[in-house]
Amino acid sequence: SGDPLVLGIETSCDETGVALVRGDELLFDAVASSMEEHARYGGIIPEVASRAHLEAMVPTVERALAESGVTLEQVDAIACTAGPGLVGPLTIGTAAAKSLALALGKPLHGVNHVIGHAAVDQLVHGQFPDRVMALVVSGGHSSLLLVDDVATSVTELGSTLDDAAGEAFDKVGRLLGLPYPGGPHIDRLARDGDPTAIRFPRGLTARKDQEKHAYDFSFSGLKTAVARWVETREDAGEEIPVNDVAASFADAVADVLTAKTIAACHRHDVGTLVVGGGFSANSQLREMAAQRCAEAGIELRIPPIRFCTDNGAMIGALGSAVVRAGLPPSSLDIGVDSSM
Ligand code: KG4
Ligand code: ZN
Repeated sequence: SGDPLVLGIETSCDETGVALVRGDELLFDAVASSMEEHARYGGIIPEVASRAHLEAMVPTVERALAESGVTLEQVDAIACTAGPGLVGPLTIGTAAAKSLALALGKPLHGVNHVIGHAAVDQLVHGQFPDRVMALVVSGGHSSLLLVDDVATSVTELGSTLDDAAGEAFDKVGRLLGLPYPGGPHIDRLARDGDPTAIRFPRGLTARKDQEKHAYDFSFSGLKTAVARWVETREDAGEEIPVNDVAASFADAVADVLTAKTIAACHRHDVGTLVVGGGFSANSQLREMAAQRCAEAGIELRIPPIRFCTDNGAMIGALGSAVVRAGLPPSSLDIGVDSSM
């Protein structure tokens, strides 16, 4: 096609992602992860992630070019994640993107990582209809976005006031003694548990929160409630019904996420929901979203998991949309914005 060829670079956390995108077509994407190094520490160490990006960047770009048969000279624009994320990792990717833009004489576009999690779905399920809702949930973010145009008009309706959904899962995983990251382990344990066994609190759903925080999330109170429930049983020398705790906790998270998202769809007259971010792998969320979207007549779009976790294709996809929208390039002296 005549669409511009965009090289996308993602480095907001622990994944070095590089992709080549033309229009809504993904030509190639390559991801290198430093997660194994972080698992030993029970969390992401920014310095370790930065060094890993520095080492992986050029080999990953070279791999993307070699495997797609594209030369650097054919690239029409470079897109990189300018935020939000960890400052060190963002800086490595942005510096690499600037160097390429400068050397090739091609435009640079610094783009928003969270919007990228929504944009990547266009590579899988095609162009968005006029207006979509996007729920972006991961270890770092839980945001509800009203997307009128992915390149030019995105409104954040709400976000988490404390922990992200995946982060809450990881913290509850730690208190249940599960390996890091605990999210997938809780998901697995929850499948053999009773989600109605324990009624955990649903944060920010009380009537008093409806006006100010209708579409915001809060998971730290829930995490504390789980900790207290477990401690009380442990102090009494009782055995912890781990499957029921996991299922009841997962149910509370999925319930709040889906209820608020569907209320926002109704409020803004949106018929399509896109779910992205690594937490969209969660079975309880997927099940409840599918059921509630079907009941509400809302089309549900969830890309395959490799496009939900951090990757280069999401930045290539958003960069491609931004270039096609004719937005002016970023200046080569742009900084990064950890809380963009
Ligand atoms: O997008 P992602 O790969 O990277 C970060 O933003 O950190 O998301 C990873 C997060 C972690 O918190 C992980 O525990 C959680 O998503 N996660 C899950 C599941 N798969 C990943 N949480 C619950 N259930 C899952 N199946
Ligand atoms: Zn992310």
